[in-house]
Amino acid sequence: PKEQPLKGKRVVITAGPTLEAIDPVRYIANRSSGKQGYAIAEAAAAAGAQVTLVSGPVSLGDPRGVETIRVESASAMLAAVKSALPADVAVMAAAVADWRVAHDSDQKIKKDGSGLPPALNLIENPDILKTVGHLHEDRPKLVVGFAAETNDLIENARGKLERKGADMIVANDVSPENNVMGGDNNTVRLVTRDGVEDWPKMAKEDVAKQLVTKIAELS
Ligand code: C5P
Repeated sequence: PKEQPLKGKRVVITAGPTLEAIDPVRYIANRSSGKQGYAIAEAAAAAGAQVTLVSGPVSLGDPRGVETIRVESASAMLAAVKSALPADVAVMAAAVADWRVAHDSDQKIKKDGSGLPPALNLIENPDILKTVGHLHEDRPKLVVGFAAETNDLIENARGKLERKGADMIVANDVSPENNVMGGDNNTVRLVTRDGVEDWPKMAKEDVAKQLVTKIAELS
């Protein structure tokens, strides 16, 4: 039926930030409230999908009717996403930390009195969207990524579409004056191989609902 356009579909969604441990008390993280990803999970479930939400640490409760898996690091997020496959649709909305500390310390790092800070040796995290977009056997039919940019929005989104093997990029301008980060509204542009669609500014819940309608058309 029209109101359940994703009935029978399996959807895996990432949301929130990842935390990368430096030692037992410190971490590196990205800024992300998880609001947009959680709203998409809830809207997909309301549209009849069987939803697995893989979430980094956020202050939001589990969305209704959604299997929520809580993780901290990018590596754990990737493992949870893989365990949720096969799926028909993947929506990678998490703000994944690009780097983690090469060797996190199992003891709290102390100031050594020299006045010199410790050097943090960073290594790159796995790119979850790119991994899913380039899967051979279990690649979801529709792979959706996000591009939070402050400049050259469309050009950057198109680059991501190609590099990461995605079918659609939801691009949003996160310049501070738009107050997207942690805010309740979002202004997005949908980039596919067919072109660009500009949506007006609306509540993140409405972006989620319309995105689910779009996903149902494409999946
Ligand atoms: O490259 P950038 O981080 O701007 O790309 C954003 C998109 O890629 C988002 O969909 C994000 O969830 C995804 N991503 C990911 N794993 C990473 C980095 C980004 O899934 N390590």
